[in-house]
Amino acid sequence: MERAKVGIIGCGNISEFYFKNCLAFGLDVVACADLDVSRAKSRAEQFGIPKACSVEELLADEGVEFVINLTVPSAHANVSMSALQAGKHVHSEKPLALNLEEGLSLLALAKEKNLRVGAAPDTFLGSALQTSRKLIDDGWIGKPVAATAFMVGHGVESWHPNPDFFYQPGGGPMFDMGPYYLTALVNLLGPVRRLTGLTQVTFPERTITTTSRFGEKIPVNVPTHVTGLLEFEQGAIGTIVTSFDVWHAELPRIEIYGTEGTLSVPDPNYFTGSVRVRRKSATAWSEVAHLFGFEENSRGLAVADMVDAVRKGRPHRASGELALHIVELMEGIHVSAQSGRHYDVQSRCDRPASFSVGFDEQALRLTLGVK
Ligand SMILES: NC(=O)c1ccc[n+]([C@@H]2O[C@H](COP(=O)([O-])OP(=O)(O)OC[C@H]3O[C@@H](n4cnc5c(N)ncnc54)[C@H](O)[C@@H]3O)[C@@H](O)[C@H]2O)c1
Repeated sequence: MERAKVGIIGCGNISEFYFKNCLAFGLDVVACADLDVSRAKSRAEQFGIPKACSVEELLADEGVEFVINLTVPSAHANVSMSALQAGKHVHSEKPLALNLEEGLSLLALAKEKNLRVGAAPDTFLGSALQTSRKLIDDGWIGKPVAATAFMVGHGVESWHPNPDFFYQPGGGPMFDMGPYYLTALVNLLGPVRRLTGLTQVTFPERTITTTSRFGEKIPVNVPTHVTGLLEFEQGAIGTIVTSFDVWHAELPRIEIYGTEGTLSVPDPNYFTGSVRVRRKSATAWSEVAHLFGFEENSRGLAVADMVDAVRKGRPHRASGELALHIVELMEGIHVSAQSGRHYDVQSRCDRPASFSVGFDEQALRLTLGVK
């Protein structure tokens, strides 16, 4: 199979993993771009990429077939739109868009142009979440009746060199971390049909404590404690809490409660972690061996899956429909909090296909026809 030609737009913090993994998966990264061309040049040097250029030049390059959009959230929809307009398939970092309307326009354009659109996260394709999915599908906990998901901490200004966007629309704990938790839940339980939310802003400004900008204050323009109640189409009820306002907590990450037992799912921000199950009469939790590859940080795996899907004419897993549903859930929680009413979810998506047991990096490279 011909190696897919990929262009990366946005060469900041997270891009390093994408360059590394795309090359490892056998994708041909032929160009990279950033508003700040020096960042693109620096990644190109680091990874031996032949072309570092402006966004316009990258999009005009007929050799680029797939665009990976790693810009900041507020730019995601615009950059992805431009990629589709230029005739490229596009995979975006999360969130796909800032709201349902923006996301719907993207999907409509992709459909019109017969191109693929997809989005992060792809951690649900990792060893831990694929193993969790198999346990549910094989009936280990019976019928899932409820779920909890908790992501609580004190924000990102202590570690991210440029934390500003996390406190602007498109950021906040739900838009930043919610995609991992909600995508994991939807992959495990299917789509959500109705939800409700409550939100608050506890600290109106944040103080950066990384060395490069130590002491700088940044304004907070999004809710930083966001809770949601989710009614899944299959009947289960979920509770999600995402917060940048909590100093310390002892909460689990994700638990799925079924008629026959409970599944403990590790942090969905990672590809690996401890998957544990405890059936109704068991006296202790059992750690479950992972049945799939991709234990490491495999960000970019969804792009490889999209490439294979395009070549074979099958649906790709981290699809635009899935990402749009997640965007609507996140937006809906904020809308419900403002309106004081339940929010009926319009978008629907199928649960993405699981990997076959044992699917790993070597199997992926074989699938893609890369030696
Ligand atoms: N940093 C992480 O650990 C992490 C992890 C997972 C996902 N993400 C997601 O990845 C995305 C990028 O995060 P990051 O941490 O790399 O941010 P970053 O600020 O370090 O990098 C973003 C880059 O995009 C560039 N950019 C912004 N707008 C652009 C535009 N319109 N055209 C071209 N380039 C543009 C910026 O110049 C910058 O170099 C975000 O959506 C974030 O949520 C980040």
